[in-house]
Amino acid sequence: MPSGNLRDAFPAFTTTCALITTDGPHGPNVMAAEWTFNVSYRPFLILVAIDPGNRTHDMILESQEFGVNLVAEDQVAAMGFAGHYSKADTDKLSSEAFDTFPAKHIRAPLIRGALLAAECRLVAHYPMGDHTAFVGEVVEFSVGSEKSPVVLHHGSRRLGERIVRAPGLLVAVTPMSAQPGEAVATANASTDEEGSFRARLRVPPDLRSGRYLLEAAGEGARGQAHLEVRA
Ligand SMILES: Cc1cc2nc3c(=O)[nH]c(=O)nc-3n(C[C@H](O)[C@H](O)[C@H](O)COP(=O)(O)O)c2cc1C
Repeated sequence: MPSGNLRDAFPAFTTTCALITTDGPHGPNVMAAEWTFNVSYRPFLILVAIDPGNRTHDMILESQEFGVNLVAEDQVAAMGFAGHYSKADTDKLSSEAFDTFPAKHIRAPLIRGALLAAECRLVAHYPMGDHTAFVGEVVEFSVGSEKSPVVLHHGSRRLGERIVRAPGLLVAVTPMSAQPGEAVATANASTDEEGSFRARLRVPPDLRSGRYLLEAAGEGARGQAHLEVRA
């Protein structure tokens, strides 16, 4: 067991949150789940970690499907309601806090006004510590308006300013080491604009073994990388 206080550790993570919708013999349900992540492009997979004590847990197992609705900043009250009450005693979706619409391929309803509303079919589930990881394949989705998400970090927050970095070059050498006289080394460099370029460098044949500093410069930006030359 770690010696630190878990109450300090968990709020240090930064997450967003989803409203997980389900349907079952006792009607539809919604719960808040900040442990919701996209984990594959093709197929488009979403993983959600759910405490087996939540009604949603068994509703997903029984129906083999669920909806994922990413919470917008104007849905923070609905998120709190979905996250603090259980279908065990409350029909949460009867509240005006939730504006639902029918999904195309699953029985669970979706939440209007979410950043993303995705219909998922369960493809796998694994016990994961004190939660269960449910992996759903997205069979349909719609992207909502350009609203901002709720951000969770020591409480609920708004999305912050975009970080604008000073211009710079990040340079790395592949392979990490070269023999003197080796014909070429390849350098990869990426710019702050997310672009990248490849430069081919000739290692001079008379270069003695040692560690060298490579410097790339351009348009006011500089980057450095180490090159190991072996005799
Ligand atoms: C902001 C927030 C995030 C939450 N994230 C999760 C989560 O990722 N996984 C989970 O099992 N419970 C999470 N919960 C707790 C459930 O939403 C809560 O236990 C809920 O009452 C379960 O509802 P149900 O019993 O109707 O399924 C969260 C609660 C809040 C308020």
